[in-house]
Amino acid sequence: MTRIKSYHISLLWLLLWCLCSTICGAFLVLEDLFASNFELFIRYVAVGNEPFLSTYNGSFLGTTLPALQNIQSALTKAGLDARVKVTVPLNADVYESPTNLPSDGNFRSDIQDLMLSIVKFLSDNGAPFTVNIYPFISLYTNPNFPLGFAFFNNSSSSSFTDGGKIYDNVFDANHDTLVWALQKNGYGNLSIVIGEIGWPTDGDQNANLNYAQQFNQGFMNNVIAGKGTPMRPAPVDAYLFSLLDEDAKSIQPGNFERHWGLFYLDGQPKYALSLGTTNSNGLVPARGVTYLAQKWCIMSPSASLDDPQVAPSVSYACARADCTSLGYGTSCGDLSAQGNISYAFNSYYQQNNQLESACGFPDNLSVVTSNDPSTGTCKFRIMIQSHSVTSGVEGGRGFSMSSFVAFAFAFLSAFL
Ligand SMILES: *[C@@H]1O[C@H](CO)[C@@H](O)[C@H](O)[C@H]1NC(C)=O
Ligand SMILES: *[C@@H]1O[C@H](CO)[C@@H](O)[C@H](O)[C@H]1NC(C)=O
Ligand SMILES: *[C@@H]1O[C@H](CO)[C@@H](O)[C@H](O)[C@H]1NC(C)=O
Ligand SMILES: *[C@@H]1O[C@H](CO)[C@@H](O)[C@H](O)[C@H]1NC(C)=O
Ligand SMILES: *[C@@H]1O[C@H](CO)[C@@H](O)[C@H](O)[C@H]1NC(C)=O
Ligand SMILES: *[C@@H]1O[C@H](CO)[C@@H](O)[C@H](O)[C@H]1NC(C)=O
Repeated sequence: MTRIKSYHISLLWLLLWCLCSTICGAFLVLEDLFASNFELFIRYVAVGNEPFLSTYNGSFLGTTLPALQNIQSALTKAGLDARVKVTVPLNADVYESPTNLPSDGNFRSDIQDLMLSIVKFLSDNGAPFTVNIYPFISLYTNPNFPLGFAFFNNSSSSSFTDGGKIYDNVFDANHDTLVWALQKNGYGNLSIVIGEIGWPTDGDQNANLNYAQQFNQGFMNNVIAGKGTPMRPAPVDAYLFSLLDEDAKSIQPGNFERHWGLFYLDGQPKYALSLGTTNSNGLVPARGVTYLAQKWCIMSPSASLDDPQVAPSVSYACARADCTSLGYGTSCGDLSAQGNISYAFNSYYQQNNQLESACGFPDNLSVVTSNDPSTGTCKFRIMIQSHSVTSGVEGGRGFSMSSFVAFAFAFLSAFL
């Protein structure tokens, strides 16, 4: 594997779901690789995304390895197999340790045989094992999880030793549980790629700018310093998750899902992050982004909280727009009842490109204002200009292509 840089950003991942036929798989790969201007940058094809999550009830157990094999044979036929590797990003729940000690790690017992077949496939083809590791999720799912242990540089009472190796953060412990699982099964040299690592900034009491910066900078500092984990001392190969917030992503796993970006939706960096490049500013803001007018939709000062239309209107707005910044410990968690309602109305209004009718909630509950209702950490955002559809409630959300390109270049320039 040619190491271009010791870390990369998920921008260049090619995500390919191909659970159809061999032929479909083959054509998809060839078409994409040959047609793409980014051909030189493609190093991996990722098949699926965390297919063995227990919430999928085993739906993808039978199809994942055949899909990997199909894509591999397509790459081989195209003569690209030496340069481009096939892998499958797995959730860290494909391995476990009954004692929590990395040295007791092994693959999850219900998928042990399948995991060994996949590991053999990866090893035979010189491809890496790809795993997504999320200390934030450890904290989210376990309220008793020791906060400091989720980060990289906080000396914490949760540190422990395992065979003389010191573990002072959960990422190292989790990563090395995988190393032990591989080693125990005869694949101790298989390379590992961290397919996703990051920390969200909103939507949960532990999702904020401070923690996200602390986590991501702590991680990057280790990479920059050439430091790996106790079992694999060389720096890890990782993709930061993610580039941008995604305001329409499913929040079934939690409200934080829409806030993983290093950048807000409009391409503005959320916090300083040194990536160890010549650009000391780290993240570069998008250039040439244009915004809609300085107008917000709020709850009318003359409307009453007791109006029976309030609850259904807020539900309607939140179901179609984004209210994940409301709730305990979030950026807008301290709003008044009126503030909450205004936030919901404004989100709906902005996501509909400030369409007049999108601020027309029943009983005259809403009104457009030119006074920014933002307070403290709570930002009432204005949507960026869309060059595409501007009419219709469903149309035109998100980036214009020119903005996106300006942004992508600004971002990439941080790496040059
Ligand atoms: C898994 O099973 C649960 C309970 O039977 C069901 O609600 C859910 O939709 C299933 N998920 C998938 C991906 O099949
Ligand atoms: C990290 O350590 C500092 C200093 O001991 C402490 O103030 C901070 O709260 C810790 N951060 C976390 C997330 O535990
Ligand atoms: C792993 O790599 C080392 C160093 O290249 C080598 O000595 C060792 O035999 C390899 N082990 C396996 C299991 O391939
Ligand atoms: C950990 O690292 C972050 C980012 O470099 C820094 O802001 C924070 O102060 C550090 N915490 C400790 C306890 O050193
Ligand atoms: C505002 O909305 C959030 C999220 O729905 C809720 O937790 C909070 O209690 C609300 N605040 C008030 C004052 O109603
Ligand atoms: C809403 O406001 C308009 C104009 O002020 C008024 O004509 C209308 O009766 C109001 N509707 C309700 C339901 O209060």
